[in-house]
Amino acid sequence: MYYPDELVEEVRAKSDIVDVISGYVRIQKKGSSYFGLCPFHNEKSPSFSVSPSKQMYYCFGCGAGGNVFTFVMNYENFTFPEAIKMLAERAGVNLPEIEYSDEIKKKENRRARLLEVNKEAAKYFFYQLRSEKGAIGYRYLSNRQLSDETIKQFGLGFANKTSDDLTRYLKTKGYTDDLIQEAGLASFDERFGMHDKFWNRVIFPIQDINHRVIGFGGRVMGDGEPKYLNSPETPVFDKSRNLYGLNFARTARKNNIILCEGYMDVIAMHQAGFNQAVASLGTAFTPGQANLLRRYTEEVLLAYDSDGAGTKAALRAIAILKEVDLSGKVINLEPYKDPDEFIKNLGKEAFQERIDHAENSFFFEIRILERDYNMNDPESKTKFHREIAKKLCGFSEEVERENYISAIAEKYHIGFDNLRKLVASYAAQTGLVKPVERPKSGIQKKNVPEDNIKRVQRLLITWITDEPKLYHKIKKYISAGDFTEDLYKVVADKLFTSLEEGNYNPASIISSFADEEEQREAAALFNTKLEALETEQDREKAFHDILYAVKKNSFDYYSTRLGTDVEALNKVIEGKKALEELGKTHISIDESQ
Ligand code: CTP
Ligand code: MN
Repeated sequence: MYYPDELVEEVRAKSDIVDVISGYVRIQKKGSSYFGLCPFHNEKSPSFSVSPSKQMYYCFGCGAGGNVFTFVMNYENFTFPEAIKMLAERAGVNLPEIEYSDEIKKKENRRARLLEVNKEAAKYFFYQLRSEKGAIGYRYLSNRQLSDETIKQFGLGFANKTSDDLTRYLKTKGYTDDLIQEAGLASFDERFGMHDKFWNRVIFPIQDINHRVIGFGGRVMGDGEPKYLNSPETPVFDKSRNLYGLNFARTARKNNIILCEGYMDVIAMHQAGFNQAVASLGTAFTPGQANLLRRYTEEVLLAYDSDGAGTKAALRAIAILKEVDLSGKVINLEPYKDPDEFIKNLGKEAFQERIDHAENSFFFEIRILERDYNMNDPESKTKFHREIAKKLCGFSEEVERENYISAIAEKYHIGFDNLRKLVASYAAQTGLVKPVERPKSGIQKKNVPEDNIKRVQRLLITWITDEPKLYHKIKKYISAGDFTEDLYKVVADKLFTSLEEGNYNPASIISSFADEEEQREAAALFNTKLEALETEQDREKAFHDILYAVKKNSFDYYSTRLGTDVEALNKVIEGKKALEELGKTHISIDESQ
């Protein structure tokens, strides 16, 4: 990456993770690990664990995890070079001047430069808001009842009327036209030369979860089109994977997150104490954002505009939340349009009440559906009931489905048995009993077979990491190729190679992934919760089942690829043999054998 692997490894090995993390978080020994309150999400009971033997941390609550480098990067909001520098100094290791590979140097430099120029622009806008020229912007924000403290917290700013102000300023700071354009802060045209993207607007800097400015939104003061102007997507600004306000909401210590449509809504809610509010970035809510939210909460409250467009957007968001198994509720803002207006008119106590009475998202869907039917016409009413029944089929778990059938039957005065029969008949037609189809977004639902497959693969890797000696007992049955998830395969390969070579060191594997998301996923692999099983016999059976399941999945996987994958035939033959053998082999997990 930036430094030779051996050097990275030396710094890591000399930075004991328990020592380093104890400097930031209070952790206590419990069994073979240390536990404490997770610094990356809100929680009241400790689910953040630090393992001295694996030299990794992992939070069972939010899924944050990694080695000592990722911890320092996330906690201190450092880049990798900054983290390694800090740890090297602490451990007394001398780092040479960095020899970047050209390609990495270019890419990383570019990202760093983009973040830098964004930060500089944000500072400039912020300063403008307080200057004479910016007084009009400041007045606009004050009229919208934002306090100085709020303006400061969100770093709000102002882009003044001159159309190349920012560009000129940034150039005096040494930034090139190219970079300024790539950051989306200005564009070039033959007639006017370089001109700023934002002018005569109040500015909302958009920050990632680590408070780094990744883009901007700008609002006209008063009427005018477009009302909001947003930075384009850039290498540092991915609109589908960031949320406005999440940098604050992630540590809000509330048991839900409020999702709304507008920047002003987020700000108004935070100012009123609802610091768990976030918004999408001028685009529709995406599965990537749902996944992001899932790290921080189990319940999302929708505070979308109460008009037709807002309702439609809420229905779409509910479907997306469902795909990642987040429970959704809808906050009723009537008679106001959005949270900002609601709070302005009725105050925070009234808003809190609306939160407390947020509507179950399924009830919301049915209530909206009802609008399309005429309850006085038996035919229309029947159609409505059929639609309800179809929707109820979406609950694949029986208990949940029954609960909803009974709730809806009561609410809409439908006979419980009748509704139940109707649901059963649709279930038969649509094959409810069959496994749910994989959603197109690639997100996995809990408990679908696909998820179980990933789970057993994770369990096996965690188990081997916890008891590395087991590897030698099972290596004749299993290899990296049996892990059918790409990232799992890479991790298994590195893990097995290190075990073969006798330098087993799971924390070093994390460092080999450059991408933060991959590091997190790799860390999760080493830290899947293993059920506490009482007897040795139970443990042996569980281990055997996991191993068998991984192998069986691998066999099935390659069987379906016989025509397309040259390796497949070998894997199928080998897999069949291994499965037969495993079927009659007892594997002792006693370390002494
Ligand atoms: N939006 C946008 N471009 C527009 C209009 C809206 O990107 N031309 C996005 C912005 O992110 C905005 C959100 O959609 O925050 C919600 O828009 P809207 O409901 O129209 O505005 P409000 O949030 O109510 O803004 P305000 O209160 O300032 O009128
Ligand atoms: Mn508004």
